[in-house]
Order: sequence, then C-alpha cells, then structure tokens
Amino acid sequence: MSFAKYYKSVHHGNTEKVAKSIAEVLEADLCEPEEFEVKELRGKDLVGFGSGIYNISFHESILELLEELPEMESKKAFIFSTSGLPRIPIVHDYESEVKEKLTEKGFEVVDSFSCRGHDTYFPVFRLFGGIHKDRPNEEDIDKAKKFAKQLIED
Ligand SMILES: Cc1cc2nc3c(=O)[nH]c(=O)nc-3n(C[C@H](O)[C@H](O)[C@H](O)COP(=O)(O)O)c2cc1C
Repeated sequence: MSFAKYYKSVHHGNTEKVAKSIAEVLEADLCEPEEFEVKELRGKDLVGFGSGIYNISFHESILELLEELPEMESKKAFIFSTSGLPRIPIVHDYESEVKEKLTEKGFEVVDSFSCRGHDTYFPVFRLFGGIHKDRPNEEDIDKAKKFAKQLIED
C-alpha cells in the first residue's frame, strides 16, 4: 500500500503536528493542498485529508482541492482534524461535508480522527492564553499514531 496526505494548519500548527505523526507511521508524502498535482495520486491506495476547523468547516483550500479532484477508482481516504471544541454531530458537523465530497469523487472513506488543539480564536479565549494550550499533547499524538496503524492493519 502507498499513501499521500494533504493538510492545512494555519492557527497554531496543531493539525501539522497530527499530520506529521500520522505521516511518520504511514511513511506518507505530506503536502499542502496548494502543492497538489493529480499525478502524485497515481499508485497511492490511501489518501488522507486533514485540517484545523475554521468556522465549523475544514479550511477552504481543502474543500477546493476536493472540488478539483478527478473521479477516483479503488482508492481509500481518511480524514483528520483538530479543533478548539469537540465535534457535536449535527450542530458542529464539519466531517460530513468532507466525507460526502470524497464519496462523490469515488473514494471509500474508511475512518476519521480528531482531537483538540490550542485555540486562541475568540478574544475571550485570549484573555487567559487560549483553551487547550498544550494540545495536541503526547496522548493525542499517541492516539493519532494508533489511528494510523489501524489504517494499515484494516
Ligand atoms: C478563524 C478560526 C475559526 C475557528 N473556528 C472554530 C470552530 O468553528 N470550531 C472549533 O471547534 N474551533 C475553531 N477554531 C479553533 C481551531 O479549530 C483550533 O485551534 C485548531 O486546532 C487549529 O488548527 P491549526 O493550528 O492546525 O490551524 C477556529 C480557529 C480560527 C483561527
């Protein structure tokens, strides 16, 4: 199996930390969406798409990348994210949009991973240095690596 991963991390590099730990386990190429070239997906069986959550959504560059993707055959995908708040299905459901777009493009979406990340977005959070200051922490990174191992074992 061979892997590629696309990620966007603009706030505190939280998602980048998760992306790198997953990429290490999968021995995957890691790219920002702006670097995307269709030819890079040739021969890749599993592709990951990750982002910080910005206004209840993956970064627009990831959503644009998904629009640009050609129809895929026999490829699996996984998604990952970091966010200040836990994902609450229905009200905070940023994963569904990405899953739907990937499915439309012919990917089989096999799994998803998310964890909290340091968040200073709201001015009120900044008064006390933000929420989840030390995250993703070692435990989050361990969980991300376990998630990656399971992707290979499945
Ligand atoms: C512009 C902006 C909007 C955000 N919106 C949300 C949000 O809707 N829900 C949430 O849980 N966190 C939100 N956050 C917090 C980020 O999702 C969190 O800090 C994430 O870990 C950032 O990842 P990054 O450091 O990889 O960019 C927002 C942060 C920014 C900067």
